[in-house]
Amino acid sequence: MSEQGDGGLGDAIERSVKPYRGRFPTFDRIPEHGRARADVLREMAELRAIEAARWQEGYASGAVYHGDPAHVAFMNEVYALSSQSNPLHADLWPSTVKYEAEIVAMTAAMLGDVPGVCGTVTAGGTESILLAMKAYRDRAYEQGIDRPAMVTPATAHVAFDKASRYFCIDKITVPVGPDGRADVAAVEAAITPETVVVVGSSPNFPNGLVDPIEELSELARARGIGFHTDACLGGFVLPWAEKLGYPVPPFDFRLPGVTSMSADTHKFGYAAKGTSVVLYRDQDLRHHQYYKKAGWPGGLYLSPTLAGSRPGALSAVCWATMVTIGEDGYLDATRRILETAEVVKDGVNAVDGLEVIGDPLFDVAFRATDDGLNVYAVNDVMSHRGWSLNPLQDPPAVHLCVTLRHTVDGVAGRFLDDLAASVAEVRANPEAGGDMAPVYGMANMVEMHGTVEELLQAYLDLLYEP
Ligand SMILES: Cc1ncc(COP(=O)(O)O)c(C=O)c1O
Repeated sequence: MSEQGDGGLGDAIERSVKPYRGRFPTFDRIPEHGRARADVLREMAELRAIEAARWQEGYASGAVYHGDPAHVAFMNEVYALSSQSNPLHADLWPSTVKYEAEIVAMTAAMLGDVPGVCGTVTAGGTESILLAMKAYRDRAYEQGIDRPAMVTPATAHVAFDKASRYFCIDKITVPVGPDGRADVAAVEAAITPETVVVVGSSPNFPNGLVDPIEELSELARARGIGFHTDACLGGFVLPWAEKLGYPVPPFDFRLPGVTSMSADTHKFGYAAKGTSVVLYRDQDLRHHQYYKKAGWPGGLYLSPTLAGSRPGALSAVCWATMVTIGEDGYLDATRRILETAEVVKDGVNAVDGLEVIGDPLFDVAFRATDDGLNVYAVNDVMSHRGWSLNPLQDPPAVHLCVTLRHTVDGVAGRFLDDLAASVAEVRANPEAGGDMAPVYGMANMVEMHGTVEELLQAYLDLLYEP
């Protein structure tokens, strides 16, 4: 990375994440006298106004999945009603207990409606995955397996790597097949006596394709081990897509081998950021997720998830979102998203030099069809045009996760026009991008991973500088 202040990558990153330096009051200590609420609100409204247009006008991949002003205003009202609540104090806020129990029940009913399925509300997809993997690990310890392992296709979300690191679970990562989906034979070959859980995604984050969950979960079932379907991204899309008649392969608890799932209410569930649901086929696994402690001087302690105190207001918002959107609302939203995704897929395939990977439902990944075109440079040029897409690795590609923001008139067309223009710009001048393209170029070389991870660390450090 070039040094800050030289007009290179360091500068570009600083401009992107620290744009308010020198423009707004900065605090590196608590102000001696509290500021007037009106001033603070005015300042924050100004910041919001600067940032809102980009996500509201559909320039982001994923990120904001609903975002209609009336829905946002409703969620804000609900948050205000419950802003003090904390599910850790179930006796003080039994309303939050009700909301969370019903969020879990509604999600389980949507994902197969199989009796006995249970779960908890978590803070997000990553936490749902961390907790499921911890549950398998703790059950394995009880069964006398000292070094439990998980087997995941390479396209499984990085949260499984995090779970492996945090909870000392070995992770065997299996390359996906040429079609971008999990390779069932390769997964089978990777299973060892230590394997306690196999993972599949519906769909995966990188290329948006649904793994062959039926075959994968049968591998696990035949061996008496767990199978986790990561439906963080698709859990609130696929059930409705199936009802709408789209070809959706089986992925949920209707498959007898599926023993746990994650589904994110804060993505296509359309709730505010900060909630997800982890589900288990039976109580035994959920019990291995819980933390409980007798004999602590602070009293009897119990918590279902990683955090202690939790924002009950986010669960209230999630519950209120689910019951106000309803089946008809989810069906309508899914129809709009999938129709828009069709337009996006056709349009990308029509751009000379790009092709969509496989046939995703709504998370549309594309790569270059000729070596002369650097898809990361195309992504950089798209960023200069305001877009915030997701660059991917192995293969080098970029995706747009289509949300309701892209179903607004004119947005998909604008995306495709900008994409075609960006490809033309990179063809005319291969150095046109120049921001993240060189970093992704490096990240694709295994021997450079250490250097790239140092850059990522420096980036995180920068985020915490006032
Ligand atoms: C398939 C999949 N799993 C897990 C996650 C992690 O979710 P979160 O960012 O809410 O932790 C994501 C996020 O995009 C995802 O797409």
